[in-house]
This record gives sequence, structure tokens and C-alpha cells, in this order.
Amino acid sequence: MHYEFAPMEGITDDLFRRLHHKYFPGVDRYYTPFLSPAEGKVFSSKELREVLPENNPGIDLVPQLLTCHAGHFLAGAAILRDLGYREVNLNLGCPSGTVTAKGKGSGLIFPERREMLRAFLDEIFSSCPLEISIKTRLGKSDPEEFPALLELFNRYPVKTLILHPRVRDDLYRGPVQLSSYDWAFSHSRTPVTLSGGIARVSDCQRIFSSHPEPESVMLGRGLVADPALARKLQGGAGADRETLRAFCEEFFQETAARLHGPKPTMFRMKEIWTYLILLFDRRDACWRTLRKTTSLTEYQATVARIFRELPLRDEADVNWS
Ligand SMILES: Cc1cc2nc3c(=O)[nH]c(=O)nc-3n(C[C@H](O)[C@H](O)[C@H](O)COP(=O)(O)O)c2cc1C
Repeated sequence: MHYEFAPMEGITDDLFRRLHHKYFPGVDRYYTPFLSPAEGKVFSSKELREVLPENNPGIDLVPQLLTCHAGHFLAGAAILRDLGYREVNLNLGCPSGTVTAKGKGSGLIFPERREMLRAFLDEIFSSCPLEISIKTRLGKSDPEEFPALLELFNRYPVKTLILHPRVRDDLYRGPVQLSSYDWAFSHSRTPVTLSGGIARVSDCQRIFSSHPEPESVMLGRGLVADPALARKLQGGAGADRETLRAFCEEFFQETAARLHGPKPTMFRMKEIWTYLILLFDRRDACWRTLRKTTSLTEYQATVARIFRELPLRDEADVNWS
């Protein structure tokens, strides 16, 4: 089985990926958080930084695009081809209201937009210079929408179908619909990668004891909470305190240098710690301080206390599914 790091907007940027790969090797493939190609200047400078090969050394990376405009998708793909990429991923899963209202992300798989999706797929699959994989949800509000969607995907030479088996209305909560994953596995023309529901080694064992084992699984929040999860799934060691501390420290220093100013730096660090704190027991007091602080000094003192005092768990204490 291959292990892939899910795209996570606001979390898995180029810096995070580079340091994750350095301190916790064992992930076979990373995806960029979604990039939104636009008219004129196709990618923003921040988006270009995400995909520049020198910012992703030694990493197998697939860039992800979020758009419902075939021309913008193809313009983005052409730039990615010139940078040396061979595959691009289409985001059909983003549930954010501002995104879906424009017919992008999971908005493009809403049943009322089926013709729009068909026209979009016709155009990108007929002239994209790169292979295209798709990351999708089951539908808008009912998993019963999925068979018709899969029937449509099956008409195109999709490289891989990455399935997050929830509907848009679930956002990121509630159980993943594994019966829909089973359906996808047996009815998809292309290999299916499961995204969602795996945050611990035991989740993987439980799921694949009664569901078909895919070629790849994609790990998201569970892998941010426990950066060694992919290695553990391959029989390797869990994260030790010293490596975690070094990872956090380098991430903090580089983030502070990149973002100029305590406010954005704190914001970014708290996004990571929202997940990482789940790997520690007796975390309530430290987490309260970390969540509230706007001071880099207090942040550093609290993180030092976390590493000094809090017991490290064998598995992250997650309850998303
Ligand atoms: C904060 C956050 C940001 C995300 N950003 C993206 C994104 O940019 N592109 C995407 O396809 N999915 C995105 N996702 C969805 C994840 O890739 C993944 O499919 C989902 O979290 C389920 O997997 P998990 O339970 O392993 O986290 C995001 C999820 C979260 C929680």
C-alpha cells in the first residue's frame, strides 16, 4: 500500500511538506493544497512558490487545481507541465460555501450542475498535457448521488480517483461512508484511493479487515496530528519527543522568517498545533494558553512546557469519524 499526504489548505504548504519529509520520511506522495488558476496571471506568487521544484526537494508532489473554468485549468496545467510535473489533481471536494456557490470544488458535483461538469471534463480531458487525477466527495447531500457521478468519471481516462466518502453537507464530520467506498472500488475503471477515516494504525486495520484494500490511502488530519503515522502504518517507529521538538522548532523559525510579524506567525502555528496537541495527554492547560496567546515569547515558553511536561501518546486522540 502507498501512503499519500492529503492536500490541506492552510496546513500542508511547501514549508510544512519539506520539513515533514525531512523529519518524518515515509510518505510516498504529497499533494499541494488547492491552487486557483485565474485569468491573466494564472497563479499568484504564493501559489507559484508552492509548486517550484526547488521548494519541494526530493518530494513526489502532485499539484491540485480548484476551478470550474476549463480554460483556467488548462492554463494552469501548461505552467505545471513546464515546471516538470506529469500529473495534476482536480479538486471536486472543497465544501466551503464561497467555493461551492461559484460552482467550484464540491459545487461542481452538485446534481444540478451535471451538464456543466460534463462539459468541463470533456474539455480538460481532451487537451490537458498532463495526466489528471480527481479528488471527489460522494455528492451534495446524499450518498445515493454517487453512482451517477462515478458513471460520468468512468467515461474519462482518470489517472486515480481519490474518494473522500462524505457528501458536501457533511463537511468534515460524521462517519465516512465505507459502503460507498466499496461501491467505488468495485465499479471504478480507475484505481480508487481512500481519503478520510484513517487517523490511527488501528483505523487502517479495522477498515481493511472488512473492506477492499486500495493501492493507496490518503492521510490528512491524522497525519498532521501524528506526523509519524505513515511510518507507523508501515511497521516503523512512532514520533519521538526530540524529533517532534526539532520539527516544530524549525517550522516555527522558518514561518516567523517568512511571515514577518507575530500575528500571522501565531495564526499559522496554532493551525498546526490544533492537530499536533492531540498527540499529548494532559494537554488542556497548555492548549488554552497556546490558543489565546498573541506573543511569540509566550508561545515558545508554552511549547517548551508541552515538550518538557506532557506525556506523549502512542496514538493521537482524535474523534473526527
Ligand atoms: C483544514 C483542511 C484543509 C483542507 N484542504 C483541502 C484542499 O486544499 N484540497 C483538498 O482536496 N482537500 C482538502 N481537505 C480535505 C482533506 O484532503 C481530506 O480529504 C479530509 O480531511 C479527509 O481526510 P482526513 O480524515 O484524513 O483528514 C482539507 C481538510 C481540512 C481539514
